[in-house]
Amino acid sequence: MDVQTEPNRVVRTSLKGRVWLAEIDNPPVNAGALAVRAELLSALRNLPVGASAVVIRGTGRCFVSGSDLKEFSGPLLAPEWPEVFAAVEACPLPVVAAMHGVALGGGYELALACDWRLAAAKTLVGLPEVSLGILPGAGGTQRLPRLTGRAEAIRLICSAARVEAQQALALGMVDAIVEPDDVLACVERLVAENPGKRRLMELPVEDGEELADVSERAVAKAPNWAAAERTVEMVSKADLARPAAEALAEERAIFHMLRASDQAAALRHVFFAERAAAKAAPRVEQAAPVETVGVVGAGTMGAGIAATLAAAGLSVQLHDADSDALARGLARVVDALEGMGRHGKLKGSVEEAVARTTSAGTIAALRNCDLVIEAVVERLDIKRAVMGALCEVVSSRTVLASNTSYLDIDAIAAGASMPERVLGLHFFAPVPRMKLVEVVAGAATGDEPLVRAMALARRIGKLPIVAGNREGFIGNRIYAAYRAQCEFLVQEGAMPWDVDKAIEAMGLAMGPFKVGDLSGLDIGWHMRRSKDASRDPAARYVDLPDRLYEMGRLGRKTGAGWYAYPAGGGRPEPDDVVAKLVREGARGPVPDAERIRRRALGAIVNEAALVLAEGVARSADDIDLVMLNGYGFRRETGGPAFMASRMSAAKRSEMLDEVEAATGFGFRRGYVEKLVSNLL
Ligand code: 3HC
Repeated sequence: MDVQTEPNRVVRTSLKGRVWLAEIDNPPVNAGALAVRAELLSALRNLPVGASAVVIRGTGRCFVSGSDLKEFSGPLLAPEWPEVFAAVEACPLPVVAAMHGVALGGGYELALACDWRLAAAKTLVGLPEVSLGILPGAGGTQRLPRLTGRAEAIRLICSAARVEAQQALALGMVDAIVEPDDVLACVERLVAENPGKRRLMELPVEDGEELADVSERAVAKAPNWAAAERTVEMVSKADLARPAAEALAEERAIFHMLRASDQAAALRHVFFAERAAAKAAPRVEQAAPVETVGVVGAGTMGAGIAATLAAAGLSVQLHDADSDALARGLARVVDALEGMGRHGKLKGSVEEAVARTTSAGTIAALRNCDLVIEAVVERLDIKRAVMGALCEVVSSRTVLASNTSYLDIDAIAAGASMPERVLGLHFFAPVPRMKLVEVVAGAATGDEPLVRAMALARRIGKLPIVAGNREGFIGNRIYAAYRAQCEFLVQEGAMPWDVDKAIEAMGLAMGPFKVGDLSGLDIGWHMRRSKDASRDPAARYVDLPDRLYEMGRLGRKTGAGWYAYPAGGGRPEPDDVVAKLVREGARGPVPDAERIRRRALGAIVNEAALVLAEGVARSADDIDLVMLNGYGFRRETGGPAFMASRMSAAKRSEMLDEVEAATGFGFRRGYVEKLVSNLL
């Protein structure tokens, strides 16, 4: 019989038979906000007469998704989780966590504090805190090792694993798989058979060497994550001989210290930016899913796109006007699929994925495709002709996408009889690995094709970001300004390897000169020649890249570029020829690492501000996501706009002064302030 129901609260309590049921109801994901903590505490302290057990569960789609991350930027208000969990442990009745959906972070730590842990078959449990720059701060580092052993706990926490219920059962993370409808009966039985509180389990005895080895590997796999190191430290210290309160207090202190760090703030920013981006598409009724995709152009990009689509379970038809290129492209697709198969990145078997990819001898063979992506050579006349030819054969419902990286989508669509079906889908190389896809709407592009293209991108595991139709869209445009600034630095006498090193230390995976050598210095040369006629003669120009090109130094592929590549490829090495050229042409004081970082970031931030002001990007968060997922900014930097937002206005201004002086024209400071205030 229900004796108490409180429908307007975030924790509803009722007595079901002899079970005191506390149901957390804080949509959408039952995050452990202040009200949840306070009401749960009150439920535990106000047990009704006649109850023999307490069951905590979540309503809606999950148990508890973790602490409420929105509260993490300021001081946390009492009661905090540890106080609630202490009440769980102090409760005279056995307390059972009945999990479904997800039980993550503080949510799973709540379950860890309980006497019993039940989970529905499809539940995911885990402690993903390190991916947010923190460690489990409510007992996770001390209670999990008692269930799984220290080594497994380190592996689980440092990899931020989300563990399926069956595996969690095998690891000891849950006690039984029980579906929500069976929970109450199961708990009645459980407490009848096991009356009273459960004793804290012993820590399994472990091999010290294995522990050291696991710890080292776990930290190595989570580079730059201070949280992983602190996790290892705390889990290794988990010890029954030590008073629990002392260990928990130490864990909590580290948690608060990490929570206030730049890295944790950056990772929270990325978390919310990703969620906001997921909602970016306009709402369209009945946007049919894409099942069959045509790819025109079987070069590196076309084959990469085809392989990624097939790997995700779509049917793909690959076409190339050149039959030899088509054969080579198909072979590349098979290679890529085999590679993905080896790394467990395929839906189904390699054979099935290969069978989903067929060759289309003519463009007419693509007539039944729901969406066609052209990835032919980056020339407007050719892309326009392909769009025209496609319009002749496909249905009026087909979406027509161009994989151009900088050409005008409207100019490409001018070749199409259905310009409203045309848009840009700018993938990044290597396609299977890079998450970013810029989705570019032209002036005529309809909402329905846009929504379908974004849904397709998400389905294949990509992060689609909407970009305006301006040269270079979001990413390449910002990158061009940044690369130009880095070339100025070299012109002033900084060595390319010193610039790369300083920039890598700032949080980019690879400096611009290594990237240049990897792509080939011929690309930049052709681009510069195409702009010779329109270039402002007063604009600062660096001729060193032209000289390298003229010397046949095209980068990695010729064994020399900005760097030297000793015979047989391998790592880039500083090169005397380049050093001499830089020294000879050096103007002004040679910039040091600090100045290099300020100038590089300043150039990026200034261009990002223009991109936002012109409406090319919808938000500063989108810009950060582009730079994080397509241009090598490490996740824990938060991206350039976030980095700028962590500086004082005076420091930002100083940084822009330097870039402005080097670039030679005035900046709109107000735009940069708008960029940083636009962050979520
Ligand atoms: N805090 C605040 N808001 C959260 C949240 C959280 N922990 N988790 C999710 N949300 C919000 C999202 O921002 C989104 O809000 P919106 O609708 O306003 O955009 C909404 O809930 C739904 O989230 P998703 O769009 O991500 O929904 P999904 O169904 O795809 O995924 C999820 C749900 C698996 C819970 C996913 O959101 C997730 O992974 N959340 C984070 C889980 C996590 O990292 N927990 C640990 C937190 S740290 C902690 O607990 C510290 C402790 O040790 C003390």
